[in-house]
Amino acid sequence: MTAARTPSQAALRLLILIAPLWLAGGAASAEEDPGARIAQEGNDRGATACIQCHGEQGQGQSQPPFPRLAGLPEQYLIEQMEAYREGLRPNATMAQIAQNLDDDEIEAISRYYAEMKPAGGPHDVPDDLVNRGREIALEGLPERNIQSCASCHGDEGRERNPSLPPLAGHPPRYLMAQLQAYAHGARETSLAGLMEGIASELEEEEMAALAAYYASLPAHPD
Ligand code: HEC
Ligand code: HEC
Repeated sequence: MTAARTPSQAALRLLILIAPLWLAGGAASAEEDPGARIAQEGNDRGATACIQCHGEQGQGQSQPPFPRLAGLPEQYLIEQMEAYREGLRPNATMAQIAQNLDDDEIEAISRYYAEMKPAGGPHDVPDDLVNRGREIALEGLPERNIQSCASCHGDEGRERNPSLPPLAGHPPRYLMAQLQAYAHGARETSLAGLMEGIASELEEEEMAALAAYYASLPAHPD
């Protein structure tokens, strides 16, 4: 007789029902979300837990350089995992991991990181490099017809649309390596062509300055 039940009895029943879920805490979310599970535990076919390198909050790390994943766009993440799997973006560690994930797992892990609050940076980098990098990032190099990075990546490197990654908060050495990879045609992701043209026009010291600038910005403004 439900109508006769007092509020306190109802509350008690509810507590008994939800208590095990509540006590299980974070573990419950990993069980329910396959993306969270792969991030924290990897899978049983040899894909390593992402947090081992990319951090508990997906914030990445400076040294050795591991990029942030938290808050990168979902479609961008899917494209990059497929590129590693197919060797279009050469990296032995990520190739091995991506080859051990199926399409559904790649989608789940990409959704998981895309929904996470942006995290990563600011990294410790020399001020003079940051100042030089900011100048190129915001104004481009008009005398050499190089457009500003900000026109696509946003004023503070936080612009994101489905295929456009934010740059703020990545480790400087990671950003530098990517600019070199584009410049040498080593990164052949679907939209790499846009970056190839730009990166191949940059001097090494300009790349280092740009990498320092974006690394000096936190992924999230607060
Ligand atoms: C053993 C360390 C390690 C583990 C574990 C690892 N990664 Fe990585 N990851 C790297 C390194 C190193 C790079 C940079 C590779 C490069 O230069 O292209 C990277 C790059 C990436 C990128 C490219 C980011 C960008 O901004 O373009 C994605 C996406 C990624 N990893 C996803 C994952 C996922 C998902 C997992 C877990 C299933 C994972 N990684 C596990 C080391 C690791
Ligand atoms: C016309 C738009 C556009 C401009 C201008 C542009 N970018 Fe990009 N950038 C992109 C796109 C699109 C991608 C993703 C390409 C891919 O899938 O590999 C990207 C990717 C990158 C990446 C790789 C990010 C990661 O997580 O691995 C870096 C680093 C980068 N850009 C730096 C720069 C810098 C520095 C400048 C200025 C000198 C610049 N970009 C100007 C569109 C642009």
